[in-house]
Amino acid sequence: MNTFILLGPPGAGKGTQADLISADLGIPKISTGDMLRSAVASKSDLGNRVEDILNSGKLVSDDIIIELINDRINQSDCKSGYLFDGVPRTLGQANLFLQNDIEVNKVIDISLDDELIIKRMSGRRFHIASGRSYHIEFNPPKAEGLDDETGEPLIQREDDFPETVKKRLEVYHSQTKPLTDFYKSKASEGIISFISINGNQSVDEVFSEIKSYL
Ligand code: AP5
Repeated sequence: MNTFILLGPPGAGKGTQADLISADLGIPKISTGDMLRSAVASKSDLGNRVEDILNSGKLVSDDIIIELINDRINQSDCKSGYLFDGVPRTLGQANLFLQNDIEVNKVIDISLDDELIIKRMSGRRFHIASGRSYHIEFNPPKAEGLDDETGEPLIQREDDFPETVKKRLEVYHSQTKPLTDFYKSKASEGIISFISINGNQSVDEVFSEIKSYL
């Protein structure tokens, strides 16, 4: 079974690559960011609890995340594999994955400097219902301001405004970056395979490196 984690800082291109890998391998992308944003959009109990956390750039608690993931991977489309986009993102979540026997066999770590991240975030436009993301300069939609597949309007995410991006980067460096060493050490024990990819390349170049690894 193909089971992946896409690791990396906010704006590194995880969501962009996750869509390409998911289409290529026919496995679902599981993005906790998309799941949480859709809970907020539908004004569910969960959405109301997490809305301020998302907008402030902080992380939602590990127990909410593990519950979302356990529910999601038990759905029938995950039987032949899945791709985690942006989860786990704390050592606590990674350990909960192990305790809950959530299978992962490959980890793809996309790296990018903070300066470029800020540039990418400021030009990002987002289709909230599908999680598809675009960039006004680097990855524009076919028609300005509209999603390629549905023609619906694109938005700028509230957490992409500069002050929140700064907060998200701090959170990434303190809480998520340690996962790189965590999974490298699992790879050296032969438990998973791990690849590091330079995110400062075009979307096609990053995908082609990932494809040769797959
Ligand atoms: P989430 O939605 O997961 O955000 P993130 O990890 O911060 O990642 P992003 O979606 O911002 O970036 P990305 O790497 O997917 O980049 P993209 O492909 O869009 O999480 C949001 C929030 O939810 C968190 O802050 C937290 O509050 C909460 N949350 C989610 N999961 C959680 C968890 N597990 N635990 C706790 N809390 C959680 O690309 C960025 C831009 O660059 C786009 O405009 C794109 O078009 C462009 N681009 C992409 N690739 C390239 C390229 N190669 N060259 C040029 N431009 C490119």
